[in-house]
Amino acid sequence: MEFTIKAGTPEKVRAGILVVGAYADGALPPSTQALDKAAKGKLSALLKRGDLDDKAGATLLLHDFSGAAAERVLVVSLGKAEDFGDKAFRDALTATAKALAGTVAKDAVVALADAAPTTGRDLAWRLQQASRLIADGAYRFEPKKAPSKEAKKERGARKITLLIGEKSNAALEAAVQRGQAIAAGMALTRDLGNQPGNVCTPAYLAETAQALGKEFKFGVEVLERADMEKLGMGSLLSVARGSHQPPKFIVMQYKGGKAKAKPVVLVGKGVTFDTGGISLKPAAEMDEMKYDMCGAASVIGTFKTVASLGLPINLVGIVPATENMPGGSATKPGDVVTSMSGQTIEVLNTDAEGRLILCDALTYAERFKPECVIDIATLTGACVVALGKIPSGLLANDDDLAAELLKRGTESGDRAWQLPLWEEYQELLKSNFADMGNIGGRYGGTITAACFLSRFAKAYKWAHLDIAGTAWISGDAKGATGRPVPLLAEFLIARAGGQAG
Ligand code: BES
Ligand code: MN
Ligand code: ZN
Repeated sequence: MEFTIKAGTPEKVRAGILVVGAYADGALPPSTQALDKAAKGKLSALLKRGDLDDKAGATLLLHDFSGAAAERVLVVSLGKAEDFGDKAFRDALTATAKALAGTVAKDAVVALADAAPTTGRDLAWRLQQASRLIADGAYRFEPKKAPSKEAKKERGARKITLLIGEKSNAALEAAVQRGQAIAAGMALTRDLGNQPGNVCTPAYLAETAQALGKEFKFGVEVLERADMEKLGMGSLLSVARGSHQPPKFIVMQYKGGKAKAKPVVLVGKGVTFDTGGISLKPAAEMDEMKYDMCGAASVIGTFKTVASLGLPINLVGIVPATENMPGGSATKPGDVVTSMSGQTIEVLNTDAEGRLILCDALTYAERFKPECVIDIATLTGACVVALGKIPSGLLANDDDLAAELLKRGTESGDRAWQLPLWEEYQELLKSNFADMGNIGGRYGGTITAACFLSRFAKAYKWAHLDIAGTAWISGDAKGATGRPVPLLAEFLIARAGGQAG
């Protein structure tokens, strides 16, 4: 997909499809006003008839609208002007993206950037959101299907012009580029998540990281089982015991910042299939546990975004990757394992495996003397119970870091919500046979999981994102979402001083 910014008004542009916005109460943003004027009020008269629904994101497609040079005009509802906030802006763009992905028009002109949300978002923000949402809306996973005789009709606009009322400049171009780079990172994350478990193995994750490192010239190192043994990663290796797929420990290093600048470290849970192990999961929806590597996928996707933008920061990505399988040599409930940190763990439930692989990765992260560490994991079903599928769960040992992530979540539209990491919860991890158990009982499962991780993250500022509810969608639209790449990218772009390149 190709994006360009153009200054002008919409009535004269030639395109397969022109997209304009209209508020529910009859008000029109400046660009739509210009179109209406050129059409001698025909557009506003048409809208008065009420064909366009009031809800932001509703659409009305007009063919051969005589006031416009474009072949088609898509009018997108912005909802009530006084309610036009970030969400309504995004709803309008998501609807636009959907329409553009399904149209037969090859090129589109989108004149929505002049619809300014009441939240005071500037034009750069609106353009970044627009390019990200439109590019992400065009994402398709290529499923493996038998060849069909029916000729497939190619659909979807590939050339997108974002129309603005003023002359473009470098900052606006950079914003559009950021949006595209975030969508590209999301697409990789979604592809990795959507691949079945027999394709996306730990080795596949490692190969993907290596290929990306080659393409964008950053370092990738893959540690094998023997290396992990030498490092004493007994906790991570205890999860891999039941599987015939060799575990991989992937380390990516992107150096865009000053040589001495401390890196941000991202750690992603890479369980390429989670059966639960000996504490076997029930059969229903177990297929969705192919998504248990979405934390890892979001780290790899974020690397794609960061490296393609050339952000001036140092970034380390760590992905412990393994399957969690039952088997004759699998870890059993009650087994005691020794983590790389030296702390021992009683594995009371082999289905609480994410924390067992992450804890050794968190210890490994110490060697990079990080500015901060963020881990991303589909860690607990309890997070979905607590927060639903809207925000990711956020827990941190540093309030400033947590606040920063919450802010970037709001800005990017990829939100998180903080849960407490209070000392009182720690005692739930008590074990009679080791330094700690790997589960904390019935209540507060997301918090006790984070409490467990916090014991391995004492050497630095650390935040944990539980993406069990946000990494994929179930049901008819089943598929990976690419979250939280927008949040992580926004965080890193801001840390880089807002500049790309
Ligand atoms: N990968 C799962 C968490 C999960 C479950 C994510 C359902 C999304 C949907 C994780 O490894 C797990 O099994 N967690 C257990 C922890 C429990 C045994 C303490 C859970 O959430 O049930
Ligand atoms: Mn599990
Ligand atoms: Zn899991």
